[in-house]
Amino acid sequence: MPKPHLDPIADEVWRLLNAGANAGKTRSPFTMLQAATIGLDGSPRVRTVVLRRVCREQRSVMFHTDVRSAKVAELRQDARIALVGCDLDTGIQIRLHGSARIVDAPHETRDIWTASRPRTLIVYRTPLAPATPVASPAEAHATTAGEDIDSSAGFENFCLIDVAVSKIDYLDLNPAGHVRASFTFDAGAWRGEWIAP
Ligand SMILES: Cc1cc2nc3c(=O)[nH]c(=O)nc-3n(C[C@H](O)[C@H](O)[C@H](O)COP(=O)(O)O)c2cc1C
Repeated sequence: MPKPHLDPIADEVWRLLNAGANAGKTRSPFTMLQAATIGLDGSPRVRTVVLRRVCREQRSVMFHTDVRSAKVAELRQDARIALVGCDLDTGIQIRLHGSARIVDAPHETRDIWTASRPRTLIVYRTPLAPATPVASPAEAHATTAGEDIDSSAGFENFCLIDVAVSKIDYLDLNPAGHVRASFTFDAGAWRGEWIAP
């Protein structure tokens, strides 16, 4: 039997990631990904993030975060990162491994900040760094409330995490037969192989 071609799987992975990043109000299964880092003490850390931008040519996926958050300190210590997303309806899981660049230079972040919906920027405007203990949830709300907020307030806390993807693991729990493929970026090119699910 001829070996089935892997290119359509790679196309599908990037198509699904693109749909996730550009879903708008409709949402897509790959809009929310879980991002795993290595904690400062070496233990695993994971959290949900919103996939904001995908560029296949640069093998890049990007999300926004707060420079004060634990994940940024973790990525400064060890840039390795893994992300996973899953479509429960189709049974497709995509796992990404790569190296994160913390993009915090204003000339690289300003346009994205300006183009972001104000509602998504509220979290950066609080003087309380993420994970600061508060007496009650309301204490944190009080610091983000306010009518006339300067549009650049909180900009100094905003950064992008740009992940250079070096490995992709695709799994399709297709009822007709499970399918799993692995893609590794090596010496300037992607190498794909079928692997047992
Ligand atoms: C639906 C959803 C989407 C989220 N998106 C983001 C995001 O895009 N960026 C982010 O920094 N945190 C996001 N969070 C919050 C993180 O999951 C996490 O709680 C926070 O960033 C603190 O993580 P850390 O302490 O590991 O740095 C999101 C949480 C949920 C529930």
